[in-house]
Order: sequence, then C-alpha cells, then structure tokens
Amino acid sequence: MSVARFEPARGLTGTLRVPADKSISHRAALFGAMSSGAVRVRSYLHAADTDATLAAVQRLGARVEESSRPGELTLHGVGLRGAREVDGAIDVGNAGTLMRLLSGWLAAQPAGSWTLDGDDSIRSRPMGRVVEPLRRMGARIDAREDRFAPLTIHGGALHRIDYDSPVASAQVKSCVLIAGLATPEGATVNEPHVSRDHTERMLAGAGVPLEREGTRVRVAPVDALALEAVDVPGDLSSAAFLVAAALLVPGSQVVLKDVNVNWTRTGFLRIAGRMGARVGGELEPAGAFSPGEPVSDLEIAHGPLHGTTVEADEVPHAIDELPLVALLGCFAEGETVVRGAGELKVKESDRIATVVDGLRGLGAEIEATDDGFVVQGTGGLRGGRIASHGDHRLAMLGAVAGLASREGVEVEGMDAAAVSYPGFAADVAALLAR
Ligand code: S3P
Repeated sequence: MSVARFEPARGLTGTLRVPADKSISHRAALFGAMSSGAVRVRSYLHAADTDATLAAVQRLGARVEESSRPGELTLHGVGLRGAREVDGAIDVGNAGTLMRLLSGWLAAQPAGSWTLDGDDSIRSRPMGRVVEPLRRMGARIDAREDRFAPLTIHGGALHRIDYDSPVASAQVKSCVLIAGLATPEGATVNEPHVSRDHTERMLAGAGVPLEREGTRVRVAPVDALALEAVDVPGDLSSAAFLVAAALLVPGSQVVLKDVNVNWTRTGFLRIAGRMGARVGGELEPAGAFSPGEPVSDLEIAHGPLHGTTVEADEVPHAIDELPLVALLGCFAEGETVVRGAGELKVKESDRIATVVDGLRGLGAEIEATDDGFVVQGTGGLRGGRIASHGDHRLAMLGAVAGLASREGVEVEGMDAAAVSYPGFAADVAALLAR
C-alpha cells in the first residue's frame, strides 16, 4: 500500500485546471455508446472510474477512437437497443455510477444477459435501490442476497414507471430514466430533494423530450439519441480539495479554471461561503436548467472561518464534499453540524465512520451521529496518520489535512486518489512550488 506524507504548507498559490468531471465523463461514455452516430467528447476524464466505463462500453460493442489530444475521443455507439453480449462479467471496478446507470440500459435491451461486478467496495454497496425500480418496470435481475453485486441483468421489454425514490440519488434517478427511454410511455422519477442533474441535461441535449418540475423528472420514449458532442468541464468535487486547502493554509491564493458550477453540484461552495470563505466565481443560480453545463473560474483566498449547520435539503448538492466540510469545521470558530446525510454511509467507504475516525486520529474534536457529524472547531489540527480505506476522497482529505496541520499527515493508501484525480499529488506540488 502506498503511504504519502503531506507536510504543513506555507501557502498554495497559482492557477490550475482541475481534472474533468467524473459524473459527466461517465455519462458522455454511456450516452455515446447508446447513440447511433459519432459522439465527439472533449476533455474526457482519464481516471480509474471513468476508464472502467470506456472499457465497459467497448465490451458492449461501442468503438472508442482516441485522438492525439489528451482527453479528446470519439465514440461510435451501438444505438439504444444494440448492446452486444459479452463473455464473463463486466468489471465496473470501484464505480457506483457505472454499475447503476449501466443496469438501466442493459435491462431495457430487447434480449441478452449481462453480469456486472466490481471491487470489494462495490460489492458492499446497496444495489437494491436500482434492482427494485427496474423490477417494477418488468426487468429480470439476479443479485447476491437480492441486493448486492454481482448483478445479472436479463434484457427484456419494460413498461412505464412513476417512481417515488426514497433517496435523493442521481444514480438511481438516472438508472430509471435511462430504462424509461425504452418503454412505450417513458418514465417519471420523483426524489426527496433534487440530486445532480447531468443525466437530464445530457439527455435534453440529445433530443429526448424531458419535463422537469421541482423534484420530479419525466422522460418520453425515443428510438435514438441525437447526441453530437460533449465538452466535459472541470470537476467541482476534485476542485473542492484545492479550494479547502487554499481556504485553510495561510498565504494561499489560488485560481481554478473552467470548473463546472451546475447548481446541483455547488453546495460545498455555498456552505463554505456561509462559513466565511472568500470564493470568487459565477455560480449558476438555483433551479436553472439548460442542456449545457455552466463553467466558471474559481478564485480562492485564505481567511478565517466559522461554524455552520448543513441540513438534508443541501446534502445532495454537496454529498461528495461533506468530508471537507468536516475538515473546514476543525479550523472554524464554533460548531459545525451536518445532518440528514445518512447516504454518506453507503459511499466508497462508510464516510461517517471513516471521516470521523480519520480526523479524530489527527486531533479533531468530532463526533459521529446517525446521519452526519458534529465538529467542535479548535482553530487547527495536530496531524498524524490517516487511512484512506481505499476511498479516493478519504485519501485526498488526509492530504489536505496534512497541508493545513501543525505536524503533517501520513496518508495510508494514497493511491486510491487515482479513482477520480490521478494527478492530485502533482497538482498540489505545483501550487506549493511557487
Ligand atoms: C454520482 C452521484 C452521487 C455521487 C457520486 C456520483 C453520479 O451518488 O455521490 O459520486 O455520477 O450520479 P448517488 O447518486 O448515489 O447519491
């Protein structure tokens, strides 16, 4: 296992382009594979998760033509109903998005069977949340203990669903909407709070008739997707680690270029703003919708922070950044509380347990609750050693904690960062070098 040490930093400065968005890259590859014409993708994320998606769609019959320019590729898809059968299981690696969205597409194939499997983390994550609505649409799916991977999906005719999802999950919503494209009457999904809407935007851009009202989305059936090109913007979830580092390390002044500022993703910036953070940029207003994805440069400078409370309705817009809210809370004045975030328990690790244990090991005053955590700000963090548990976001959390700590932090399993941000350590080094 790789161990990396992050020493206390004297300031991060400079301008940087963060990696392309992971969620949008997954969707570009999947919707490209579902298209019949060529789909040109610019700035595809090459990281473990999204490379697994490219490998999966190639096994299903799509052709991926890489250009000499990094991240630029053209997908030649098989059409909405043309997925090819494969020998053996399709390996999704660590990627929940791939497993759940692909399930929706394969369940709607006219015939054929596919087995989807992944690493130990994927095998422990809840798949019942997609199996259940797909079965209600008429799908035949075998699952270990009826709710865990590996899943075997038998393609067949599906019928419409008006699904009230018990969780605000873009993966569940997307799975059902993708399956709905192939039913005679489409599909509707309602969720408790609006989750990230990249699927809806890309489908709208591909000519799918789509209605959206509050927390409800409806797609009409189509015969084909008319997606031509996807420009993948920078990933706010990757940027968030550098935002946090710049906020916490005195003397920092950082500019991050072309970051996706879709309002369903920017909860972390709003939360940090409430804590007193100075982050410049033009965020998309809440409720906006367009087939494209908005981008902005973000300018971040170090400054004092104070505690805040994050409630359930804000959680889906900051779900992957909540570990960083805990870290900011350690340095803030007063108490920081996150509630209504039980979903953290079913991420790449149980992120309530791993964040609370990990930060406590570095000297934080933090308690786990049933659906989040409570942090008492002490103005700093001692440092020490933290385990990533194979979770990319835990590895990068430990690294940022080290930069802002008094004694430095050793991260066990830093290699996990390659799931979403293979160049993370190099980018940090570049911002420290000036
Ligand atoms: C994702 C949705 C979120 C997020 C994950 C990526 C997506 O998960 O945590 O990192 O690409 O749709 P849920 O949909 O399970 O909340």
